[in-house]
Amino acid sequence: MSHTWSAKDHKNTSQPATGGQAQKRPRNDVGNKATVVLGAQWGDEGKGKVVDLLATEADVVCRCQGGNNAGHTVVVDGKEYDFHLLPSGIINTKSISLIGNGVVIHLPGLFEEGDKNDKKGLKGWDKRLIVSDRAHIVFDFHQVVDGLQETERQAQDGKNIGTTKKGIGPAYSSKASRTGLRVCDLLGDFKDFSTRFKNLVHQYQSMYPALTVDVEDQLKKLKEYAERLRPMVRDGVYYMYEALHGPPKKILVEGANAALLDIDFGTYPFVTSSNCTVGGVCTGLGIPPLNIGDVYGVAKAYTTRVGIGAFPTEQLNAVGELLQTRGHEVGVTTGRKRRCGWLDLVIVRYAHMINGFTAIALTKLDILDVLDEIKVGVAYKLNGKRIPHFPANMDVLHKVEVEYETFPGWKTDTSAARKWNDLPVKAQNYIRFIENHIGVPIKWVGVGKSRESMIQMF
Ligand code: GDP
Ligand code: IMO
Ligand code: MG
Repeated sequence: MSHTWSAKDHKNTSQPATGGQAQKRPRNDVGNKATVVLGAQWGDEGKGKVVDLLATEADVVCRCQGGNNAGHTVVVDGKEYDFHLLPSGIINTKSISLIGNGVVIHLPGLFEEGDKNDKKGLKGWDKRLIVSDRAHIVFDFHQVVDGLQETERQAQDGKNIGTTKKGIGPAYSSKASRTGLRVCDLLGDFKDFSTRFKNLVHQYQSMYPALTVDVEDQLKKLKEYAERLRPMVRDGVYYMYEALHGPPKKILVEGANAALLDIDFGTYPFVTSSNCTVGGVCTGLGIPPLNIGDVYGVAKAYTTRVGIGAFPTEQLNAVGELLQTRGHEVGVTTGRKRRCGWLDLVIVRYAHMINGFTAIALTKLDILDVLDEIKVGVAYKLNGKRIPHFPANMDVLHKVEVEYETFPGWKTDTSAARKWNDLPVKAQNYIRFIENHIGVPIKWVGVGKSRESMIQMF
């Protein structure tokens, strides 16, 4: 495969003279580069499948943000796996999987997921997993508070966010308010950890009097999890430093959630609580920007969204229903039906502005196979005038009028296509239009769930 995994030596070999004498300066060896896979829409683009494809060659596969709100599906040899906290690369028995400091970890969720996959035949996952000691912990009560906050939002605003109720918002809030507890705290002095845990519970109970927590029972369980977790825990920053600066290594980063759900750049407040764009890779793993190599954006050939919030190209009609049923658009984490609509290139271009994609993986093209015509959102208009940016304000986003390009459907089954020339010309035209409009090459086209159903373009 021709992406830039390799140790690229950006050596600074210039040796300017100082004081009349040539002095040797330290070489600035950048080291290995991490290949990054990020969601370019509202999530569920097929990141798991793209990561799986690249992970067959990877030495280290990392998660850098989010928690078990993510649901990544991988289909190998007809067997379907869904990953939430574990990097999808855990399937590759030759690679190490790493959960970075930017991830929030619900320990019962992590072990449940591992045990479930163990039963499916994924043996030895816990020997291949490394967990950063700086990662924050999602407690059971964070998940309860997530539900209470949703009820409160519904009562106050008449609408909630539609979170996954995995405690993501409350756990990142604890982190930001500096009362959160990390893996290193759990593995340190347990008496000190217990005191801080009780204080945190107390803090939440003063905000939510309805919250009941059996503190002693929680601490007992946490102590057991601590011992199961201990062999996997490392200083994540140092681990990554060694991986980047040792012998050539293929390092892959699996983004969770997506650009339009990013806490800073997404459709706030209908977003998640982490940075799902490229900056989250550096902060969530402790690696320098110079060590970021290829950044692949994953986009579906149409658009879906789970939960509440503006969705300009949504189709509340037969087209939306067809995409939902043909695409099996049901949330992996929550089992909720995903809302469906036409491909919105305004949002994919916006994701590209932030992430600087080197290439795109366009997934689920096969779902469009039966349509007579296919539309693509190419611009937003406000009061009849095109706007060049993606609106920050949700009231404005609700008001935009979408300008569409219409393409004739190819009405041919593409699921058996394995190379570009196997695709009908009308499908090729659709793909080329998307590529030109975003200004980023499309490297893969997905035509089915399995590892093999991915056409590689270059
Ligand atoms: P992620 O969260 O981005 O990893 O994506 P999800 O796993 O939540 O959702 C993507 C769904 O689409 C999964 O059920 C995948 O198996 C499926 N999928 C991925 N790529 C393709 C494709 O090219 N064609 C079809 N038909 N299904 C795909
Ligand atoms: P993957 O990695 C789709 C959405 C939720 C909700 C909002 C906030 O599978 O693409 P949260 O529980 O994070 O506080 O929920 O974000 N959301 C996702 N939607 N795919 C995801 O992840 C998502 N992660 C969060 O539906 O609207
Ligand atoms: Mg998903």
